[in-house]
Amino acid sequence: MALQIVILAAGQGKRMHSDLPKVLHCLAGKPLLEHVIHTALSLTPQTPSIIVYGHLGHQVHAALSHYHTHWIEQKEQLGTGHAVQQSLSKISDDDRVLILYADVPLISIATLKKFIHDTPEKDVGLLTTFLADPSGYGRIQRDAKKQVTHIIEEKEASAKEKTINEINTGIYLLPASYLKKWLPQLQADNAQAEYYLTDIIKFAVEEKIHIHTSEVTVAEEVLGVNDRAQLAHLERYYQEKMAEQFMRQGVTLADPRRIDIRGEVTIGRDVSIDVNVILEGRVIIGDGCIIGPHTILRNTVLGKGVEIKANSVLDGAEVGAECMIGPFARLRPGTILAEQVHVGNFVEIKNSELGNKTKVNHLSYVGDSEVGSEVNVGAGVITCNYDGINKYKTTIGNRVQVGSDSTLVAPVTLHDDVYVASATTVRHDVPKGALVYNAREEKVREGWTEGHRKKGGK
Ligand code: UD1
Ligand code: CA
Repeated sequence: MALQIVILAAGQGKRMHSDLPKVLHCLAGKPLLEHVIHTALSLTPQTPSIIVYGHLGHQVHAALSHYHTHWIEQKEQLGTGHAVQQSLSKISDDDRVLILYADVPLISIATLKKFIHDTPEKDVGLLTTFLADPSGYGRIQRDAKKQVTHIIEEKEASAKEKTINEINTGIYLLPASYLKKWLPQLQADNAQAEYYLTDIIKFAVEEKIHIHTSEVTVAEEVLGVNDRAQLAHLERYYQEKMAEQFMRQGVTLADPRRIDIRGEVTIGRDVSIDVNVILEGRVIIGDGCIIGPHTILRNTVLGKGVEIKANSVLDGAEVGAECMIGPFARLRPGTILAEQVHVGNFVEIKNSELGNKTKVNHLSYVGDSEVGSEVNVGAGVITCNYDGINKYKTTIGNRVQVGSDSTLVAPVTLHDDVYVASATTVRHDVPKGALVYNAREEKVREGWTEGHRKKGGK
């Protein structure tokens, strides 16, 4: 029997009180539905999963349609049973169907593999767990022989039934032929006037089909996101798990509760990360790096032994070995730093390459530039790369000294060993080894201050 995964993602998510469909709310920087798509992909890489989408469906589809999946619209959200029914035309009779929920994002591959392995093919497999506070979930009712007899939704449950701690995770595994037989028979005669998928248990019991239950031991894997508090709870759980994993791999975290990982992150050995660091997108941190507090690294690669000082923001940057960045530095997309480059406080670099041992230490903007090695850029230097219409390139050779408060008006080239006097506006290319300065007369008027103050009456 081939495994076919159906992901339910059509629900409105009323309790989120949001204009964004619930399944597009992010956990660790990734939409809830995308977490489940990734899980499904690793279980059945060859068979596209079926995603049932509906509420604000165009948004959901637009955000994630690049995945190799089948999209089926549930035009009206008439319940979980109705949602699965929409997918049946895409499923062959001898498939085995695994039902996942876009709002149950952290179910692990290991748990599902075990569930699939342990559930006999002809059984209805049901994943359950025990919760200290089971409110909101369907409760699992069992008979004296511990056989499942019924799933009771919270809204239908009596006070006594509400005390049952074993809950329905909503994740099922069963032959498609059962679904094709039972789903058309569902009735919406319940408190929510919905076609409940949970009613398939009733049919299984009637037809004496064995219900195999597997228990999930880590409850967070099957907690649903129905409101923003539950989303925040799962976010924290996920972050703590990631932090623990990195610590086990040899990363020192000043406080494992104050790091946020929102992407695919690789961290080398003996890396030390201070508090309130955010790692987003694809981030690679080489061995021995030191990451200062309040730093954001997004889609960035750091070579070995890089030091990032406090409050720096790096986005789309490639930083070579032993560079020193910050505090308060901003590296924007397209920044490529060779080795041992220093970028200091209040420096912004965009779409520029800087060679080995080059230093830009204070209050400068370097944009659309190619800078050689061992260059020293003084304080307050600006590459003027934009004339309001087009962007132009600045080229700076090796060992160039750019004096403080200079402006380099692109397009412009400073060849090797050029010396730019401070406060120079460079508008034309400068040949190798030349000094460039703006002839300006410096005048001094002795005693001027006293006269000026008298005029002002002070
Ligand atoms: C459901 C189960 C409950 C279980 C819980 C686990 C039913 C009737 N109840 O309740 O027993 O404990 O999940 O998390 O199945 N959806 C659709 N179309 C619809 C309705 C829902 O696609 O018409 C999707 C939602 O997007 C969501 C999932 O199905 O991903 C579950 O729906 P939701 O309304 O959140 O069900 P729960 O009340 O959580
Ligand atoms: Ca739910």
